[in-house]
Parts: sequence; structure tokens; C-alpha cells
Amino acid sequence: MAAYSSKFFKIGSCDGQKVVDGEVMPLVLEPADPAKKDVESLVEALGNNKEWFDQMITKNSAVLLRGFDVGNAVNFNDVVEACDWEDIRYVGPAPRTHIHKRIWTANEGPLSEFIYYHHEMVLIKEFPKKVILFCEIPPPEGGETPFVPSFKVTEKMLEEFPEEVEEIEKRGLMYSFSAPTRNTTASMRGRGWEDAFATSDKQEAERRANALGMEIEWLADGGAKTILRPRALTRVFEGRNGRRMWFNTVVGMHGKEQSSATMADGTELPLKLVKRCEEIIEEESIQFKWQKGDVAFFDNWALLHGRRPSLPPRKVLVATCK
Ligand SMILES: [Fe+2]
Repeated sequence: MAAYSSKFFKIGSCDGQKVVDGEVMPLVLEPADPAKKDVESLVEALGNNKEWFDQMITKNSAVLLRGFDVGNAVNFNDVVEACDWEDIRYVGPAPRTHIHKRIWTANEGPLSEFIYYHHEMVLIKEFPKKVILFCEIPPPEGGETPFVPSFKVTEKMLEEFPEEVEEIEKRGLMYSFSAPTRNTTASMRGRGWEDAFATSDKQEAERRANALGMEIEWLADGGAKTILRPRALTRVFEGRNGRRMWFNTVVGMHGKEQSSATMADGTELPLKLVKRCEEIIEEESIQFKWQKGDVAFFDNWALLHGRRPSLPPRKVLVATCK
């Protein structure tokens, strides 16, 4: 473990914390000295303890910085840049707006909808290692960002469906997802294919989709149906104690109007398994109440995250990193 010389942070606590395999999630870090809660001091401390901070995220899967004067997207960007991880461009269904440098809105879709649990960009070849969220305006009610230690889902699924899980793993998964032509904030999955692939040229979109490991079928209304196969059910990543992560989006995409999830050869997944998996994910979820200025760092290799329905106003911004 990297040496931690700064006395800058002290360990705090928050509602909803859980201890999973001996690690508290999320780990809450607060200013040890109330006189040093300004952004400049925080940026300096992060810069001086990069390796240690990175290890805390891997060890605890989620770290919540609380009590610092992170007030806006500019401050948030400074915090993100202080950590020195490379940016990764978002590819996915969420309609997002660029705010400042590395900072985007998390999702412009209706606040009344639940954004189902997912590993960020789980279906794309290159997905972020870190998802960082900043709360500028905490919601008056609801609007939490629940997260789930992914290996716990695999553990429970293996207990209840040992043969089925290994069978699906062996055969692989296939997903389909239909995107409109242009962005619409009418849906939390309202990102248009022109924006997603940064082109309005269909051939170019196909090339870019292929490079990301997807195929495209064009729909009569001009929309694009993307097909992704084969995809894994679980994955094990280095440095994560051999934990087998539930690295798929079966529950989120199975049997929906806009999406589907089957085995790679088109065979239907057992409905009982999908339904039970949904319950397990909820049972294992962890959530805290957002406070203004909170910055949450999620290990995207280890955690699923979502968003609960919220009353307005709510402003949570995001950065994704390699
Ligand atoms: Fe997300």
C-alpha cells in the first residue's frame, strides 16, 4: 500500500453505508481541518496522494468526498484532473450535455424514471475504470445513486442458479438496443445514434459501431438497432481479489420495448433467473443521501450503479476515466 503522509483527510460516515467483505462502502473522506475544506487544498492533497487515493477506491469500491467546498463544474473538473486519470469518451444511451472540460450532465432524461443498475459502458470494448459523480444540487426527495458490489450478485446467483449461470456464461449473451436518429430528453435512453456515433452518415456510423464491437440494423423510421454479441455474463478483473463481477446488463435490457437480452444464439433466458436477479441486485444495493458538494468515486469494474426517481431540482454531474 502506498504511503499516506498527508493528514488532510479524516474518515467520516454516512447513512446507508454497508460493510462488505470487511470493507466499508462507501468510504467517506472529510477534511481533517475545517479550515482546509477549500478546493485548492483538496486538489493539492489529491495530487500529493494519488496512489493512495486510487488504492482506496479499489479497496472500498466507492469513496465519497464530503464536506469540501466543491461548488460547481469548474471545481469538480479541478478535482477530477488532480487525480490524473485519462478521460474516456462516453458511449451509451444516456442523453448527456457537455458542461465544462471533462464534465458532463449525468443524464438529461426525466427525473421521474429509475435508471436501472449498470456498469458504465458495460457493453463497449473499452469501458471506464472510474465513474466520478458530483452533486451540485441535491434532490429534495429521492434521486439517490444506489450502487451494488457486483461480485455479491454473482455469488448469490451462483448459489441459486449454479448450472444456468455457467450455461449462460459458456454460450454468451446477445443484446439489441434501438436508438432514435436524434437526441431526445423524453427518455433516459433518448440518445440518438447521430450523437452516439458523432456522425449523421450511416456508413460511417456502421464503421464506428463495428469498431466498438456492435453491428447496426437500420429501422424504417431512420433509427438504428444495434446488436451486440457475444458478450460475457461475468468477468474477473486484476487487482479485485479474484472477485467475479456480474458484468452484464441482462436485467436492464431483457424484454424491454427498446431492448432485448438473450443467449448469443438467440435462445431466451430463463425468466425466473432474470426476475430473481433483479431482486438480488436490489437486496445488495447501497445508497446514501446526496449532499451539496459531494464527490463520489466509483470503481466501475466492481460496482453497478443506478439512479432512483427524483423530485426536481437535482443536478449531478459526471466524469468518466480510464
Ligand atoms: Fe451510469
